[in-house]
Amino acid sequence: MASTASTASTHGAEVLVASNRGPVSYEVRPDVGDGSLHAKRGGGGLVSGLSAIGSDANALWVCAALSDGDREAVRRGVGEPGVRMLDIPADVHADAYNGIANSVLWFVHHMLYQTPLEPVFDAEFRRQWASYEAYNRAFAQALAEEAAEGASVVIQDYHLALAPRMLRHLRPDLRIGHFSHTPWASPDYFRLLPDDIAAELLGGILGADRAAFLTQRWADAFTACCHSVLGPGIPSGTRIGVHGLGADADFLRERAHRPDVAERMTALRAEIGAAPDGGARKTIVRVDRTELSKNIVRGLLAYRQLLDDHPEWRERVVHVAFAYPSRQDLAVYRDYTAEVQRVAEEINSAYGTPDWTPVVLHVKDDFARSLAAYRLADVALVNPIRDGMNLVAKEIPVVSDAGCVLVLSREAGAYEELGEDALTVNPYDITGTARALHQALTMPDGERAERTKRLAAAATALPPAQWFLDQLHALDA
Ligand code: G6P
Repeated sequence: MASTASTASTHGAEVLVASNRGPVSYEVRPDVGDGSLHAKRGGGGLVSGLSAIGSDANALWVCAALSDGDREAVRRGVGEPGVRMLDIPADVHADAYNGIANSVLWFVHHMLYQTPLEPVFDAEFRRQWASYEAYNRAFAQALAEEAAEGASVVIQDYHLALAPRMLRHLRPDLRIGHFSHTPWASPDYFRLLPDDIAAELLGGILGADRAAFLTQRWADAFTACCHSVLGPGIPSGTRIGVHGLGADADFLRERAHRPDVAERMTALRAEIGAAPDGGARKTIVRVDRTELSKNIVRGLLAYRQLLDDHPEWRERVVHVAFAYPSRQDLAVYRDYTAEVQRVAEEINSAYGTPDWTPVVLHVKDDFARSLAAYRLADVALVNPIRDGMNLVAKEIPVVSDAGCVLVLSREAGAYEELGEDALTVNPYDITGTARALHQALTMPDGERAERTKRLAAAATALPPAQWFLDQLHALDA
């Protein structure tokens, strides 16, 4: 149940985080007579980071109201201490979030356009861009109101690329950081954007004292875009940093051994079934949002190729694919979700037998079941087209019970740290991915265990709390 607390800080916050999606969301519960608001808390790197700086640090998280429940909470003055939700008009938010952030900026950084027909930068784009500016301005104004003299502000991601410069104009006294959780496009691809928009985006981030990225590759791409669009040199003297967010080993290991996860493991084992000789079937596990960049369909096609190239795996392996709905306001995401289901069903009807379902697909988000699959996985398939980091690649080796071979796209940020002990693939190469899956399934137990140990160590090198603290310290320096 939500607590009631004042959302505005009276003394000014010393540390501020700004992101589109906040740490809490609200749902109006029609089943409860008085229309109570139910608060749901999220996890992730920023949540751990903020809790690490302690409750007396006077921190504030500024985020957008996303759902009707969130807007209702703002209207009723219901909130969490340390969180300010901005009730940006729904149409402005939709243009900024669905229209610009998710349909343009996300597509550019993940190279998702089918370029013969898109993108099209027309009057409708310009109209949505004005909303993106207004949305960024709303954040900059709220941060300017809330921050104490000389406070540190860390602004997150492609939703808020313009806010650093806007905030700098309003409050030159602040230390401002920007962090990108996505890849950054190379100059050739970034320059699909109209020149003035490309310059605005870069200039917006360069309003920060420090612009940080998940890997050196994305940081270098950002610098290359600045040179290509704005000319040589980083004009404002903005410092560039890299902080490779790692998995939270303590949290994951504890959470993965609770009874609800054990229950899910039993249910999953029943779905997977036993091989004809009575032995355990091998599992190839993937867990993703149904996100275009995650490359779930090509993953299924590679699995089908494996069953064709190596019929000996039939009845002896199961592809456990969890694909959780994401960004379903966008038609292209709804179509993609449908395509994932269609291809999975096609494989099941072409290859399945009365005792064997080749693909076990689940689309309903269930964190305990995801952890159960992590523990059971023989092979983890993480094959994104492009990904800022990909934490699933880092989480599975940490949680895996018996060791797990990681088949990893070289286009994931995690490749920088995990590439050596993973089997790496070009995400577009179905034949190559099928070959890697076969190699993963046949890897000797000893080698698999050794590699998993090294993967888990690399994956946890920078836990979320430290990742966040490092950014604050670097901003102070
Ligand atoms: C990526 C982005 C995040 C975003 C998340 C989920 O990881 O970098 O900023 O929050 O996807 O996407 P959503 O649109 O549901 O917030």
